[in-house]
Amino acid sequence: MLPSLLTAVTLALWARQAYAASASDWQKRTVYQVMTDRFALPPAQDSTGAACDTGAQLPCGGTWAGIENHLDYIQAMGFDAIWISPIVAQLQVPLPPPADGTAYHGYWPENIYALNDAFGTEADLRSLVSAVHGRGMYIMVDVVVNHMATYNTTAANAAPTDPLAGISLNGYNPFDEDSDYHPFCPITNYGNQTMVEQCWLGSAAVPLADVNTEDQTTVNTYYSWIGQVVSNYTFDGLRIDTVKHIRQDFWPGFVQAAGVFTLGEVLDSDAQYVGDYTNYVDAVFDYPGWGMVLQAFQTTGGSMSMLAQSIQNTSTYYKNGGFSTGSFLENHDQPRFPSLTNDTGLIKNAIAWTFIGDGLPIVYEGQEQEYSGGNVPNNREAVWLSAYQENKPMYKHITTLNNARKAAMNGSSSFLSTHMSVISTSTHSIAIAKAPMLAVLTNVGQGAQGQVSLSVSSLGSGYAANSQLVDVISCSSVKVDGSGNLAFTTQAGAPAVFLPSSVVNTKVCASVAGGSGSGSGSGAQAAFSTRAFALSAAVGSVIALLVLASA
Ligand SMILES: *[C@@H]1O[C@H](CO)[C@@H](O)[C@H](O)[C@H]1NC(C)=O
Ligand SMILES: *[C@@H]1O[C@H](CO)[C@@H](O)[C@H](O)[C@H]1NC(C)=O
Ligand SMILES: *[C@@H]1O[C@H](CO)[C@@H](O)[C@H](O)[C@H]1NC(C)=O
Ligand SMILES: *[C@@H]1O[C@H](CO)[C@@H](O)[C@H](O)[C@H]1NC(C)=O
Ligand SMILES: *[C@@H]1O[C@H](CO)[C@@H](O)[C@H](O)[C@H]1NC(C)=O
Ligand SMILES: *[C@@H]1O[C@H](CO)[C@@H](O)[C@H](O)[C@H]1NC(C)=O
Repeated sequence: MLPSLLTAVTLALWARQAYAASASDWQKRTVYQVMTDRFALPPAQDSTGAACDTGAQLPCGGTWAGIENHLDYIQAMGFDAIWISPIVAQLQVPLPPPADGTAYHGYWPENIYALNDAFGTEADLRSLVSAVHGRGMYIMVDVVVNHMATYNTTAANAAPTDPLAGISLNGYNPFDEDSDYHPFCPITNYGNQTMVEQCWLGSAAVPLADVNTEDQTTVNTYYSWIGQVVSNYTFDGLRIDTVKHIRQDFWPGFVQAAGVFTLGEVLDSDAQYVGDYTNYVDAVFDYPGWGMVLQAFQTTGGSMSMLAQSIQNTSTYYKNGGFSTGSFLENHDQPRFPSLTNDTGLIKNAIAWTFIGDGLPIVYEGQEQEYSGGNVPNNREAVWLSAYQENKPMYKHITTLNNARKAAMNGSSSFLSTHMSVISTSTHSIAIAKAPMLAVLTNVGQGAQGQVSLSVSSLGSGYAANSQLVDVISCSSVKVDGSGNLAFTTQAGAPAVFLPSSVVNTKVCASVAGGSGSGSGSGAQAAFSTRAFALSAAVGSVIALLVLASA
């Protein structure tokens, strides 16, 4: 027995050393968010393409083995990390379900020491983790520690004296006594932080019983649990649900016990409020920035200066500026971007945003298929219904952006440590530098082409006068002129993402790699007409950015 015990211990140590990933390890990655129930059916049923009615809010049958079976689809898009739904055993509700639906999503914990058998067995989960690691990829697990989900059997028309009368904690593990929870009160005022932290989320039918994290015994239980979750399955990072619903000083001990990168959900539009949490967890989802991206790109009338202001706020209020964020356009809680606009030019710009900045880029499953579901639960379409097509425009767009980011990282050792900076905004465009990458995002829309002229000689390495650049979106070459100006035309409202041709490999743009392409060349300076709709000149420099619409 001894040798096998030793082997087990050695393996466990090796696994921990090999995989425990820090914030700086994660910074090199890009993440594909998998909603486990909706990504892939188990291999034996994969070809059935079973129906999945999002409105019914019932389990559709996705599993860990299904994810493992479709890692190629994720990796071929250029992702080197996945985020999976919470893994623990869930509250079961009677069918037909109440208005909140069922626990298909995984956010209704009941027993945090048991796995959710709807997603597979322990062996399936271990197999998934090792398959992910075998590809050199990371896996982030979603965790819920603010509450346990309960089912309230009291009829809506009854008027109980005790609001907990219809709730049973039988079988809960841990926290099976009323005293493990804060006294019941619904959250009615989000301006009252004590209420946000100590009152209950959920509905009357499915109250989310708020665990008493003011109590040190409870806190210790969670700390020891998270250490076990990470080491038992060798996860590389955590996505943490409902972070603002627990007092801030709960988090450093939790993060330390986890020993891996932590990315927290603080759902609020105020950068100062959200940014403060980066003093307690490694990073937070950039919800304030996301709101500004939505307004900037969901119509051709969005404000670029508001977006620029939000980038400034991120650098002001977050511990490490944008490095303390996860950048996203969609997730399982928000309406999908194509439910707001079907303009392909705008969609491509909004997706590009995720990849050109300082935050950890995160893409929600189905974006690559241009799914367009609106509010929850409609935004949780099954990916198998698209048959995992890799030739769709947004699949290719995302692949290009992933490859471009990798090339920038590979071509310049300072890419990851260089903060993004806004070099220019105009009515319909924003130019963002993160050397050696330069992105020009526009909201002119798919019906327009933009002629852009800007001075780039001040951007440093790779952008000297006469340097050769490639716009990786169109795969065309553009040359900076002798005075350091860059002029180009962007088609059909697409974004432009420039890299020095020296770092563009054949994977990014087969035709122009290494500056050997025959793109548009240095081109003539854009001609300006009365149809010009934007002109801005940065104070004290020659930077100018013009975008012209053409019908
Ligand atoms: C349980 O349901 C009853 C009836 O709707 C409601 O009065 C009570 O507040 C609910 N309990 C909780 C904890 O939400
Ligand atoms: C905030 O909420 C807590 C918990 O419900 C309550 O005790 C307190 O009175 C509230 N504070 C204010 C100013 O309303
Ligand atoms: C981790 O594994 C140990 C040993 O098998 C087990 O006792 C413990 O319950 C597990 N913890 C979790 C959170 O899965
Ligand atoms: C930036 O932060 C300031 C101060 O908190 C706030 O007033 C402003 O609305 C923020 N701007 C954006 C675009 O979020
Ligand atoms: C975009 O198209 C999809 C599918 O046709 C539709 O569901 C969605 O509502 C459309 N969005 C807008 C904003 O028109
Ligand atoms: C990274 O750059 C080196 C040359 O500096 C090149 O040989 C290699 O192919 C590049 N790798 C990727 C993934 O771009």
